[in-house]
Amino acid sequence: MLPTGKRPNPDDSDTIDRIIRHRRTSKLMKSQNHLEAASGSWTQEHAAQLRTMIEGAAWAPFHRRADEKTHRSGKLNSVVPWRFYILEQSACHSLLNHLKILSEDDPDPKWARAWQSKIKNMLAACGALVQVTWLPDPPDEGDTPQFTRNNIEHVAASAAAVQNLLLASAARGWYSYWSSGGILGDEVIFDYLNISRHQALLGSVFLAPVLEDEVTVVDGGLRDQRGAVEAWARWQ
Ligand SMILES: Cc1cc2nc3c(=O)[nH]c(=O)nc-3n(C[C@H](O)[C@H](O)[C@H](O)COP(=O)(O)O)c2cc1C
Repeated sequence: MLPTGKRPNPDDSDTIDRIIRHRRTSKLMKSQNHLEAASGSWTQEHAAQLRTMIEGAAWAPFHRRADEKTHRSGKLNSVVPWRFYILEQSACHSLLNHLKILSEDDPDPKWARAWQSKIKNMLAACGALVQVTWLPDPPDEGDTPQFTRNNIEHVAASAAAVQNLLLASAARGWYSYWSSGGILGDEVIFDYLNISRHQALLGSVFLAPVLEDEVTVVDGGLRDQRGAVEAWARWQ
């Protein structure tokens, strides 16, 4: 048998196994009556930790380069097939305010519906929101972009980067929630955040280092439905 690679630290396997099992979805929601209350729980130390976590996310495996012409001509020009847009607490509150304005001023009923959803409670409760996009290849003639092999691998690699972020946050005792994003995937919100419409939202990751007052926590709906390993893995 070939020797295994050198371990960074002899205790690391125990630690990573524990962190993987410890990670869980925690949807933090601030109560309706306290949406406006400016909260100041986010510190420079949190910002520094988040930066380390974001940098670590990039160590996910990836197999294909993002298309050069479509995705690599701007300032975010990495070959990795994902992009992360980080909104720390005050930016989350600005986005919350923007959604409120849209719900009052924009005649499209989707904004009023969005304001009725839980998104405002989550934006008010979080420490940071990370909008994660994946970078679809430009479609060939007659191609359905979502289902090319390349694009599947772009999504897979981007999901691995998200999981790195979730695990790094779990290791620090932060709350996390990977949401599909709902209205946060709308092109109007992409424009507001200056995200190219050629990118596709993979998830809106809500993170919080502390539980603020008037915030409740809801688990992920499928948390207990995984079943035993025998229900999804077979040793051949
Ligand atoms: C791609 C993806 C999108 C998700 N989107 C949502 C969502 O929109 N709403 C939600 O309640 N949970 C969402 N979740 C979280 C799942 O509900 C959660 O992972 C699941 O219930 C298992 O719970 P656990 O993460 O605590 O193990 C999403 C998870 C993934 C991987």
